Amino acid sequence: MVGGPFYQVRLGRKDGFLSKSTRVKGNVPESNMGTSEIIALFGAKGFNVQETVALSGAHTIGFSHCKEFANRIFNYSKATPVDPTLNPRFADGLKMACANYGSNPTVSAFNDLMTPNKFDNMYYQNLPRGLGLLSTDRDMIVDSRTKYFANLYAKNQTLFFDAFARAMEKLSVLGIKMGRNGEIRRRCDQFNNIVT
Ligand code: HEM
Repeated sequence: MVGGPFYQVRLGRKDGFLSKSTRVKGNVPESNMGTSEIIALFGAKGFNVQETVALSGAHTIGFSHCKEFANRIFNYSKATPVDPTLNPRFADGLKMACANYGSNPTVSAFNDLMTPNKFDNMYYQNLPRGLGLLSTDRDMIVDSRTKYFANLYAKNQTLFFDAFARAMEKLSVLGIKMGRNGEIRRRCDQFNNIVT
């Protein structure tokens, strides 16, 4: 619906018997992480830097809640409350949009300001213009390990699409459960045998 590459989606991923919100932390990236942390986190799951940068291009669609980037527009540092790497007009717009995010935590901003509903390589083109929304997005063109790939995908959408599709296929089989591990739930929001 939003465009972008096609890739094979394998069927039959089983659900586990343990489902706890406390097990999420450390397994998913967070907006306040530095590039080394991001690379280590993806690396621990078997993804190299190139794949990590390609997957991050998913931020070409969707949105983020203000709390994920509020520090960049309201209290970046004592000297500069606004992150100086942000495009100033973009920062002004975000400040207006997020003015009341404390009382209304649902307020959000598009991850890709330019083409929010189109899966393209605009995410990467935005970065050198100071239009990356999260600091982790901005860092993609700052860190020497990631910037080569971010610049490459900004220039060549076909390379991005190919890399994204391959990495998504790999992501889809990450940690799959085989044999007696896991089950196919009859209801997707419930274990088959509920222990009381
Ligand atoms: C590189 C490290 C990454 C970080 C730090 C990160 C962080 C975030 C954060 C904080 C949000 C906003 C969540 C919210 O406010 O509700 C978000 C949204 C999103 N992320 Fe990531 N993410 C990363 C990588 C990825 C990857 C690998 C994918 C998929 C392949 C992805 C896909 C998305 C999508 C589609 C959204 C929008 C969700 C929506 O509109 O509801 N992100 N990300």
